[in-house]
Amino acid sequence: CGNLFARKEAVSARTGTVLPSAITLPEPFAVRLPTVPVLKPVRRDADTDYYELAQKVATAEIIPGTRTAIWGYHGIFPGPTLEARSGRAAEVRVRNELPVPTSMHLHGGVVEPGSDGYPTDLVVPEGYAKRVDASMVRMHARAAGRGNAVHAHQPVPEAPDPGIWTLHEGEKTYKYAFGQRAATLWYHDHRMDFSAPQVWKGLAGSAIVRDAEEEALGLPAGDRELSLMVCDRSFDAEGQFLYPALDPELSDPAGVEPKYMDGVLGDVILVNGAPWPVKHVGTGRYRLRILNASNARPYNLELTGPDGQVPFTMIGSDGGLLPAPQRLESVPMSPGERFDVVVDFSRLSPGDEVVLGNTLGERNTGLVMKFLVDKAVDPGPAVPAVLSAGYEALERGKALQVRQFDFRLAPGDVWTINGQPFDPGALLASARLGTVELWRFTSDFNHPVHTHLAHFQVISRDGRRPGPADAGWKDTVNVTPYGVVEVLVRFTGFRGKYMLHCHNLEHEDMAMMANFTVV
Ligand code: C2O
Ligand code: CU
Repeated sequence: CGNLFARKEAVSARTGTVLPSAITLPEPFAVRLPTVPVLKPVRRDADTDYYELAQKVATAEIIPGTRTAIWGYHGIFPGPTLEARSGRAAEVRVRNELPVPTSMHLHGGVVEPGSDGYPTDLVVPEGYAKRVDASMVRMHARAAGRGNAVHAHQPVPEAPDPGIWTLHEGEKTYKYAFGQRAATLWYHDHRMDFSAPQVWKGLAGSAIVRDAEEEALGLPAGDRELSLMVCDRSFDAEGQFLYPALDPELSDPAGVEPKYMDGVLGDVILVNGAPWPVKHVGTGRYRLRILNASNARPYNLELTGPDGQVPFTMIGSDGGLLPAPQRLESVPMSPGERFDVVVDFSRLSPGDEVVLGNTLGERNTGLVMKFLVDKAVDPGPAVPAVLSAGYEALERGKALQVRQFDFRLAPGDVWTINGQPFDPGALLASARLGTVELWRFTSDFNHPVHTHLAHFQVISRDGRRPGPADAGWKDTVNVTPYGVVEVLVRFTGFRGKYMLHCHNLEHEDMAMMANFTVV
């Protein structure tokens, strides 16, 4: 078919400006889907697994024959998968060998506040000013005002109060209780003002919590269980990641200042760090844990086989299993969301191909990956009709409080929640541990709203009952332009200061974040 992938992608008015890669890209489905290694504990005791994870400057072969510089957990992109057992704690000692501060957040984790990856709770490189001095404050003022191009259209705020920072020199140990049910989580950088460029450089990985309830179901496992981290990137002429924002610590900030108000999109779709990969499968059922780890790109995923569309059986959402499986023709997935699905290749024959496409994409971003059926196998058991007998559907009447959070571009081109750009010292809500609240999210654009700590159930979307894709316990939900999404949020696990924010990472960096506390 020729290499139509090397061509420039048209600018899309709907989804924002796409960064076109300048390098010749591989043909689609030429690269094998990488298997991401599982992080091994260095030690275990009766109730805790201990891990070490270094954040490193490294290179990765993403485009065949080219070394791309990355910032990777463990020096790889995606980072190694963190596998946990519900009820067994983990402690992850994170060493920062990068030239920049970082903060690691376990997305979807019910985590104590000191380990949640708060944006100003930073692991700074060895030798980095231990004291918060004027240069750090200036750097953030510059990021918010000028140096980082995604912030270029935000007015320069007063420099953040030096008192907001907590700095850990060289390393920090993150404590994860994992007192939650089985679910697909992920971890990524959360540094204030710089999450988007730092995740783009590679700071993201998957995490899986397993439990006995789920294991009793006989869902596809072993090599029939695949984690698929989907994200978009662009590459410059040398094959390096292309991002419009220049980190003022590393680069001359006098570069381009395009308007990336809608977020940064790339023209190359990566799955587990490989461009449009192929996965060889048998004629069986497969479990796919799909994660949208893109900075700003939404997808609507569809599977197309030789006889047309192949449906998905959705079994879980961000927060684990649904009460019962349900059929989805397509998977709409905004940044930060996870979909746990089973696909059935048992009616196909060796040689058949099934393409995972993205109906929101155009040309190269319309393709994600391909499954190539190469052997006949035992299909494995069907998905049981009941997945989670103890699933509790929350009711509107249980809500102790109703609150509204309005995600909006305020005058002066500032992304705000209830009119406020992020202020580490401000509080938008205070909820009581053990209670349920109704939170109403309203929006002027597509904003994937994410809550830390507290998971929620969607009870209405734009005045109507939510669709099947909104089912289950969630921590991230997309609010469409001028849409209204009502969720029932349950506050469990820990007291302390947490946040909610837009998971379009450029919006997040442009201060579309807010604090809430659990008391
Ligand atoms: Cu996945 Cu606060 O983020
Ligand atoms: Cu947003």
